[in-house]
Formats: sequence, structure tokens, C-alpha cells
Amino acid sequence: AESKAKAEPITLDVAVVMVPLPAQGHLNQFLHLSSLLSARGLPIHYVGSATHNRQVLDRASRLHNGGTACRPIHFHDFTLPDYSSPAPEPDAAIKFPGHLQPAFDAARHLLSPLADLVRSLASRSRRVVLIHDSSMTFAAGAAASLPNVEAFCFHTVSAIAGFFFRWELRGKPREPAVEILELPHVSNEDCISQQFCDFVLSQQQTTVADSGRLINSCRAIEGMFIDLVAREPEWQDKKTFAIGPLNPITFNQASGNGARHPSIEWLDQQPPSSVIYVSFGTTSTFSDEQVAELAAGLEASGQRFLWVLRDADRADIYAETGGDAVEKEKLPLDYYTRVERRGKVVRGWAPQPEILAHPSTGGFMSHCGWNSCMESFSAGVPIVAWPMHSDQPRNAVLVTDVLRVGFHVLDWDKRAELVASATISDVIERLMASKEGEEVRRRARELGGEVRRAMEEGGSSKTDLDAFVTHIII
Ligand code: UDX
Repeated sequence: AESKAKAEPITLDVAVVMVPLPAQGHLNQFLHLSSLLSARGLPIHYVGSATHNRQVLDRASRLHNGGTACRPIHFHDFTLPDYSSPAPEPDAAIKFPGHLQPAFDAARHLLSPLADLVRSLASRSRRVVLIHDSSMTFAAGAAASLPNVEAFCFHTVSAIAGFFFRWELRGKPREPAVEILELPHVSNEDCISQQFCDFVLSQQQTTVADSGRLINSCRAIEGMFIDLVAREPEWQDKKTFAIGPLNPITFNQASGNGARHPSIEWLDQQPPSSVIYVSFGTTSTFSDEQVAELAAGLEASGQRFLWVLRDADRADIYAETGGDAVEKEKLPLDYYTRVERRGKVVRGWAPQPEILAHPSTGGFMSHCGWNSCMESFSAGVPIVAWPMHSDQPRNAVLVTDVLRVGFHVLDWDKRAELVASATISDVIERLMASKEGEEVRRRARELGGEVRRAMEEGGSSKTDLDAFVTHIII
């Protein structure tokens, strides 16, 4: 990667440096943003460990298979201290999984090589814009005391989750616009580990050079919360660009090598809006008992389903297999025979954004990670919300109580309980086949239209993205 950087022309006009948090959901958003900015002709320098960069490259080749006319992204592989971590425990689902924390801690060692890279680019460019994850604010230190370098903070979680997180930290001053919503209560302590909270807060005390914010969200989804965060004391004198959704919303028919993923071929055979897609992101692992209840619930629901059955990512496993997690067999073999006419189980990595945008997909049972929410909103697909940790419970409140484009599987205060198959089949039927579900499905379709329009010429997100690009190049 260094050699690629050296191959750059001696004088660059502008350069953009991306510093993601090393977790799959965050790497994805930085990849999407990189592709969008690169398609506007901006040179992108993507910074991370060799392992994470390889994952992103691998994903880029699958997701952006020639569909996005973008210049190559320069990946800078920096060596970090060993951050291999133990396998995630199933019960780690309740709070932000500790198995990722070593990778986050190791990522702090990026600062010194990052500062070298930024200095080198700054000496050859009119302007350098550094974009770091909102959980990696230490990276803004690489912009310090360089007059032609700006740092932008990229919020890879929803505005609602960020707002409630800070609202609670500040001791909740009265905010009538929020109180009036009477939303179910979720506390920071219940969804974020103290270790992760300390990791984020310790960096905020040392933040330097902060020119503004990017939010992967859109006014149609959470305009009220975007306004609230933009008015927060530490934000109000900074530029705020709400530029989401960043995920692709249209897809080529074939993948990079001309073949289609088996799950897409299977969806091709199903009636319109008939399939519930079931997937819980990259950071949570169900217990074997919960997997058995989910399997039985899907079977009992009588609905068609496409289920991605995988454990939370471990960087070491992920690297060895080039993207597909290896796991032990979790379902009895006769399960596959029983459900084969209307159910498909995918092992490993599935092309989620493409699955959600497929016309046969009619619902999504999701942990409500922010990528999953944005991908589902933009495809107009309603959600059965089963949040686990971090921002997810607050995203689930947005889905069900604010936007009313989904149902909760269970109340958040029952999150530690095993969810019985009957509860699972009931909520799936409610979403996919009831009259009440029809209203929710209709609202999700409407929201999908509004979100896609936000990305078109004159739409709010496209306007903000254009303004951000203009800010970079002028
Ligand atoms: C984590 C946190 O859990 C989440 O709350 C936060 O907003 C981002 O970081 P994660 O568990 O990875 O997210 O979930 P999510 O944000 O939904 O991201 C998962 C991403 O991986 C999505 O973009 C999804 O499309 C992709 N994915 C996942 C696949 O493409 N295929 C898969 O098989 C699994």
C-alpha cells in the first residue's frame, strides 16, 4: 500500500484520509463513503491494519463489482500490536462484545504512522481532509498544527442513538421535543460496556482540530434527531452534513465473477415480498438454545425465510477464510429437509444489501445495527427488531416507536431471557401476514421511497453530500 502512495503524482490538489473503527459495520460505512467520494474524483487513502484492509478490499470487490465507476482507493496497511482475541461468548450479546475491544485498543497505535502519512500528503497537497470514526477521535491528532489539514468526525451510528447516549451522560437537561415522544427507556449502562464507554470518553477529552460532522443518516428517517444533535453545545458551531444512506441501493445482476450468490438465485424463485430475511450482524452470537428456538420459530411461522446463520466475527478466523466465518453445525440435518421448500439457511457471509433490495424480500428480522437499519429503510423493508447491545436498542426504538416500520420481538427489559419459538413465529406472522402488519409494511415502503429520493438530485442527503464535496475541493 505504501508503494501505491509513493506512486501518486508529486503534487496532489486534495487528498482524503479515512480512519475507520476496526469493526465490520463501521468498516462498511467507511468503504461506502470512500466509494462515493472516489466516484467524485477525490483521491482516497484508507487506513487500517492489514487484516481489516483485506476484509474491506474483499468486500469492495463483491459490493462494488464494477457498478461504481470509482478510482482505486489507496489502502495503507499499518502494523498494529497483536490484537487477536478470544472467541465471543454467546452471552456477550447483552453489551458491546468485549472480544472487539483489543482491536479497538490496538487501533490507537495508528496515530503515529497516520500522522506521518498525513504530514506527507499535506506537504504535497493544497488540502487534506481526514475523516475519522466518531469512536476514533484520537485520529484528529494527526491533523493538529498542520494548516492545510482538517479533521471531520464521521458518526457511524444513528443520530437518535448518539443523542440519547450524550443526553444521559449530561444528566438529561429537559428537552421537551424528546419528552413528548414518551419513548421506551434504554440506559447507556444496559447496552454499552464500561470499557467501551471509557475508550470513547477518554479520547473525547483529547480531541483537537475538529472541523465538522458527517452523519450516516437522512432527514426522512430522523430529521428531528439530526436537528437536535446539530444544536448540541459541542456541535452548534460546526458544520453538520447528514449524507446517508451510504449503502448502495441499486445492484448489478451479476457479481464480480459473473456468478450470482445462491441466496439471490433462491430469492429469484420466490413470490414478491414473501420472504423474511433473518440476520443479526457481525458482533453478536446466539446460544445454541436460542438458535434452536429461532429455527423452530421460523419453521412454525409458515413464512418463507432466508436465514444467515453465523457467529460474531473474530478477526483471526475472518482473515484465514477470506470472509466466511467457520462454525460448528448448529442445526439438525433433518431441519434442512423439513424446511427446504420455503426456507434457506446461509452459512457465512451473505450479500445483505442486495438481499434487502430484492423484490422477493418482504421483511427483515434484525438486531438493528445501524447499517442493517439503513439498508432496510432504503429498500422499504419493514423490520422485526431484536436488538442486542450498543446503539441497537435505541435504533429499535426508532424503527418501532418513532417510524413505526417494525415490531419488537420482546421488550428491552426482557433481553436476557430466552425467546421462545412461539414468540418468534407470532411476531413474524404479525409482520408478514396480519392486517396490522400491512400498515407497517405500507409505511416501510413509503419511507423507502422518501429515503431513495433523499439521494436524488435536490434530495436532502444528496445536497449535503454535494456541499461536503464542494467544501473539500474549493
Ligand atoms: C456494529 C454494531 O452492532 C452496530 O450497532 C453499529 O451501528 C455498527 O457496528 P454490526 O453488528 O456489524 O454493527 O451490524 P450492522 O451495523 O448492521 O452491520 C453489519 C453489516 O454487515 C451490514 O452492512 C450488512 O449488510 C453486512 N453483512 C452482515 C453482510 O453483508 N452479510 C452478512 O452476512 C452479515
